[in-house]
Amino acid sequence: MCGIIGYIGDKDATPILLNGIKKLEYRGYDSWGLAIIQDEIGLVKSTGKISEAKLDPLELEGRIGIAHTRWATHGGVTNENAHPHISCRKEIAIVHNGIIENYQEIKESLLDEGHCFTSQTDSEVIAHLLERYYHKSKDIKEALLATVKKIKGNFAFLAIFQDEPNMIVGARKDSPLVLGLGKDEIFLASDVLSFIEHTDKVVFLDNLEIAMVKKGSLRIFDFKGKEVQKGITQVAWEASDVSKKEFAHYTLKEIYEQYSSIKSSLYQDPVKLREFCKSIKEAKKLFITASGTSFHAGLVARYIFSKISKVYCEAILASEFSQIIEWVDKDAVIMAISQSGETADVLNAIKGAKEKGAKILSIVNVMNSTLDRESDLAFYLNCGPEIGVAATKSFTAQLTLIYLLAFAMANDFIGVNKLRKLNDYVEFILKEEDKIIEIADKYKVSNDFYFIGRSIHYPIALEGALKLKELSYIHAEGMAAGELKHGTLALIDSKTPVVVLNPEDNTYYETLSNALEMKARGAKIIGVSNLINEVYDDFILLPKIEDSLYPIIEVMPLQILAYHIAIDRGADVDRPRNLAKSVTVK
Ligand code: F6R
Repeated sequence: MCGIIGYIGDKDATPILLNGIKKLEYRGYDSWGLAIIQDEIGLVKSTGKISEAKLDPLELEGRIGIAHTRWATHGGVTNENAHPHISCRKEIAIVHNGIIENYQEIKESLLDEGHCFTSQTDSEVIAHLLERYYHKSKDIKEALLATVKKIKGNFAFLAIFQDEPNMIVGARKDSPLVLGLGKDEIFLASDVLSFIEHTDKVVFLDNLEIAMVKKGSLRIFDFKGKEVQKGITQVAWEASDVSKKEFAHYTLKEIYEQYSSIKSSLYQDPVKLREFCKSIKEAKKLFITASGTSFHAGLVARYIFSKISKVYCEAILASEFSQIIEWVDKDAVIMAISQSGETADVLNAIKGAKEKGAKILSIVNVMNSTLDRESDLAFYLNCGPEIGVAATKSFTAQLTLIYLLAFAMANDFIGVNKLRKLNDYVEFILKEEDKIIEIADKYKVSNDFYFIGRSIHYPIALEGALKLKELSYIHAEGMAAGELKHGTLALIDSKTPVVVLNPEDNTYYETLSNALEMKARGAKIIGVSNLINEVYDDFILLPKIEDSLYPIIEVMPLQILAYHIAIDRGADVDRPRNLAKSVTVK
């Protein structure tokens, strides 16, 4: 859950690396650091924001280096725990993304050998292991292979060696590592985004591979030491357009981008679409798996596959997937949904399913991500890079694609055409922003929020609550509206705002009754509907659209509400505390 980047070339490495880790901040942002090959390895690390980094250009000058942005897992947010970590003799520096599961056992044996540790991290063992093996063999490749053999868990790491000042080495197992090939320069990073402004020629390291990079030369080996030949992929330059433009935050920009991203998500290869639909329809068992916001999209899929396409499926949280693995076999199809394609829980779920012979279909935003590459068939969201840590445009793109699948399976071309017109309604919602700002201002001091909805609106209630929690840090709960009477009403008092998702469909009157039950206990009701009603203390107007499509539209006011409440409370909306964009730990 961290970002790593290495640079080797003719240019000054420090600004390139700093800029690279800024682009990777979405993966973690509680501390950062870099190491540069100089007469001795030069090292700078710090807690806090990279944008506030004050570096003396002379302090860290060199053409080769590695850098890291951290999301703390093992050890608190301190300078000592920030990466790079350096070996005892200060000859080897490493940066690592992932978790070394057996680090305690390794650390004990290294301590017995006299190694001294300076951090509480799991990652530091990599530096000391490399040192141990390098001093035995004086061969970097041998040291690297022995190290990857010893460590368990998931990792992508980079290392530089004082003895070999023209080289960066890297290794990956279950965490991403990509190489960018520029003119007389090579980058190694967690994500293409960190170097796309320098090159669009990319080599994706596969699982269980190591890379040994010198200026102008790249060699890749498997974990047994056998050389592997790799192809070069040209990635889309659009990924480089990650500026905030006129918006104050990426999150707001991405909320507004839904006007176009919903439409782009519909541009899909018809042959692939048919194949995807066929696999789903023919599946004897269909499981949908995902985490967080993507799971909420999966819950909507469960409802609408059943309503529109008459396909029954189960939606299971990726982190719980192993609990039902006994039901997965070669007759099962798993549909995994993920923005990043790197979420450890999702990757773990599909790994288990693949071992049982199941077919893996995926809906993913990041092309060539691990999920993309591990799937039998993948659909891309086509919504462009999402930088704000909270998922917004990727969620509506996921929903749109899910509806596309549902309509395609039902041969409902009128439905598909209705999806194509959705962006008119996005405009309608965006025009409601001023009204939503007033509501945000009124309720920004609340300590608790509830979001309710029935049927397809229930996953959106969950999503509305998640957005508010992660962006504003207010406690929020999303609930199926019918569940209130089973206990939660006890928590409702005159200070409680309740967001009621209630467009005019077959759930309308029942949800209205639930709103009345809350109102009778003093709650402040924020209605989200195309129909105004006196029960609502505040009201966000939705356009009247096809009943089944409301989830795609009704989530947007909730994103805007969460954004403005967060801003009013002074939260860092693009980088909420304790979160990361790619959750690459289990
Ligand atoms: C919420 C959020 C997270 C992610 C979750 C899954 O705004 O961003 O809940 O949705 O970590 O991430 P992906 O979709 O990348 O698998």
